[in-house]
Amino acid sequence: MFRHFRCWFLLMVYLVLLNTPAMQSVAAQDDKPTLRSLADKSHFYIGAAASPSHFGDPAYKETLSREFNMLTPENEAKFSSVHPEQGQYTFQSFDILLEFAKEHNMVVRGHTLVWHQFLPAWVSKGTFSRDEAIQVLHDHISTVVGRYKGRVPIWDVVNEAIDDAGSGLRDTPWRKLIGDDYVELAFRFAHEADPEALLFYNDYSTEGLSTKSDAVYKMVKDLVARGVPINGVGLQSHFTVGEMDTAGIAANMKRLGELGLQVQITEMDDRYPVNSTDAILQPQAGDYRKLLATCLDSPYCTAFVTWGVNDLYSWLRNSGLGFYDNPTVKPLLFDDAYQPKPAYYAVLDILSRHAGGAAILSDAELAVMDTMPVAPVVEVKLPPPRKTDAAQLTPDPVDGAAYYVPFPVAITLDGQDDDWGNIPRVSVDKGSLIPANNTTTMRFAVAADAAYVYFLVDVEDSKLIYGKHDLANEWYQEDSVEIYLNMTSNLKLVAYEPGVVQIGIPVANIANPKALVISGRNSSDVDVQAVVVKTDEGYRVEAAVPLVTDVWSMTPIRLAKVGFQIAVNGSSGEGRDTKMIWSRYDMQDQSYMNPSVFGQLIFWRVKPAN
Ligand code: XIL
Repeated sequence: MFRHFRCWFLLMVYLVLLNTPAMQSVAAQDDKPTLRSLADKSHFYIGAAASPSHFGDPAYKETLSREFNMLTPENEAKFSSVHPEQGQYTFQSFDILLEFAKEHNMVVRGHTLVWHQFLPAWVSKGTFSRDEAIQVLHDHISTVVGRYKGRVPIWDVVNEAIDDAGSGLRDTPWRKLIGDDYVELAFRFAHEADPEALLFYNDYSTEGLSTKSDAVYKMVKDLVARGVPINGVGLQSHFTVGEMDTAGIAANMKRLGELGLQVQITEMDDRYPVNSTDAILQPQAGDYRKLLATCLDSPYCTAFVTWGVNDLYSWLRNSGLGFYDNPTVKPLLFDDAYQPKPAYYAVLDILSRHAGGAAILSDAELAVMDTMPVAPVVEVKLPPPRKTDAAQLTPDPVDGAAYYVPFPVAITLDGQDDDWGNIPRVSVDKGSLIPANNTTTMRFAVAADAAYVYFLVDVEDSKLIYGKHDLANEWYQEDSVEIYLNMTSNLKLVAYEPGVVQIGIPVANIANPKALVISGRNSSDVDVQAVVVKTDEGYRVEAAVPLVTDVWSMTPIRLAKVGFQIAVNGSSGEGRDTKMIWSRYDMQDQSYMNPSVFGQLIFWRVKPAN
C-alpha cells in the first residue's frame, strides 16, 4: 500500500516537473531541430554541466542554451564553492547559472550537497562532535536547498559515498564525523528544506552491473525500505570509448526503477583511449547513441546530462588527473570550436526517432558507429637515429616514445649503478595520477647483454609504503615499479597474449630480499630477477628479464624493437595516490589492458667497453 502510494506520488511530482515551462517552450530558432527541441517532444531532459567561468565565450552560452533544456552547475554548488567558511555562504556563481537557466527555460539539477571532495578544511579537518557535525550538515543543506526551493527541482544530495571496491561506504570526513547514517540524514534534511525537490544519490562506475553498483543498489533499497526520502539514482557515466555494457546498464536501471526510483544519466562523457586517431569519433558516437537509447527505452530513466558542452572545457583536459593539455581527449558532443561531432548527430537521431520523427542518420551511417577501429593506434613515428658522439653510447631517447638500449653491456645485478656509466637516464614526471604536491619522480635506464635486458629504476620517494596490502592482488596500491614488455612481433596488439607481460616489482621486496615477489599480468611466465634497495632519495630497483623464456626468444640485433612501458605507483599511506607513466601514448593508465599504448625499446649495438 505504502509503496503504491509512493509510486503515484513520485509520478505526480514528476508530471508536475515535466509541465514546467522548460518542457513546453523553446522551439528551435529555425526549422533545424536541436537536441532540446526534440527532447521536449518526448518530455525528456537533455542537459549539460555548465560553468559561468566560460560565459565570456559567446559561442558557449549560445550552444548551451540552444541545445539543452537542463543544466548542472559543474562546481558552483559544491560545498566549498557555496560555503567556504563556517556560516559564510557565497552564492554568486551559482546564481549566475540560475539566472541563465531561467532566461533560457532550463531546468537546474543541483549538484551536490554531500561529497568528500570540494569540502573546505573547516569541515574535513574540523574537530566536531557527532552532534555538532550533524548541525553543520543540517545548516548547509537547509540553507542551500532552502534558498533555491522551487528553483532547483532536483538535487544530487549525496555524491560518491560507496567505495571503489563496492565493499561499503567510503571512509569520508562526513562518515568519520557523523557515522554511517550521514547519508540518510542528508536526504532527510534536504526533504525538510524542499519537500517538492527530487532527491538523488549519484555515483560513478555504477552504471552497469558490478560489485559497486550492487552496493549502491543495496544502500538505496535499504533507504527506500526505511522510508528515507530518496527519489532517484544518478549514473555518472564517465566512460572510455568502446567499453560500455548496455545490457548491464538496462538491467541496473530496471532494478532501481522497481524500487520506485528514477534513474538519470548525470555526467556522461566518453573519452578517447589516448592512442586513438579521430576514427574513434564514430564508435564514440555509437556509445552516446547506445546509452541514450538504453535510457529512453527504460521507463525509469528521465534525463541524460553530459559533463560539459564542448571538448575544450571538459574536466578531463583540466582535472589534474594527467589528461591536462591533452588534445586527444575529446569526450563530449561538440568539438573545441563548438562544431557538432558525430556523437551529436547520433544523439539527435535517436531523440528524433524516439519522438516519432524522421531518422537523421542512415543505416550505413549508424553501422559505422558500431565498429571499433581494429587497433586504436597511431604508429610510433621516430626521428632518424642521431650519430652518436663519443660521450654517448646511444641516440637520444625519444620522450615517452622510444629508448635505445645499448648492448652488449656488462651489468651486475647488485643494486649499484656504478656499472651503468653513461647509459642514458630518462626522467619521468607525467602520469595518470599526479597529486598537486607530488614529490615522487623516477629515472630509469635500460641495457642488455646476450641473455638479459636490464632495468635500473631510481624512485624519489620520501616515505616507503609497503606491507599493508596483499602482494598477489593489490601490490600496485603500494610503492612499486612496473615494467611492461611486448616481446611478440605485433606491437599493435590491443590485448594481452602470451609474450606480453606486466612485471610489478613492489618495494616490499626490500624487507625480504631472499623471497623475491614479482606480480603483474603474465609475469609468472617469465623468470625475472630483481634487487630492491633503499637509497638516500627513496629506492632503487635493478631488474633483469631473460631474453629467452618459454614465451619468447630474442637475440638482440641492431634496431630490433620491442614494446616497452614503465610506470611507478606511489602511496603516501593508504592506497595508491600517484601513478607516474613513461609512455606518452598512455596517460590514462591503460597499459595493464592494452599493449598498443606502450612505447618501444630499440636495441643499439655499442662497442664493448674495454
Ligand atoms: C569535476 C569538475 O568537472 C571539475 O571541474 C573539478 O575540478 C572536479 O570535479 N564526478 C562528479 C563531478 O560528481 O562533480 C566531478 O566534477 C567529476 C566527477
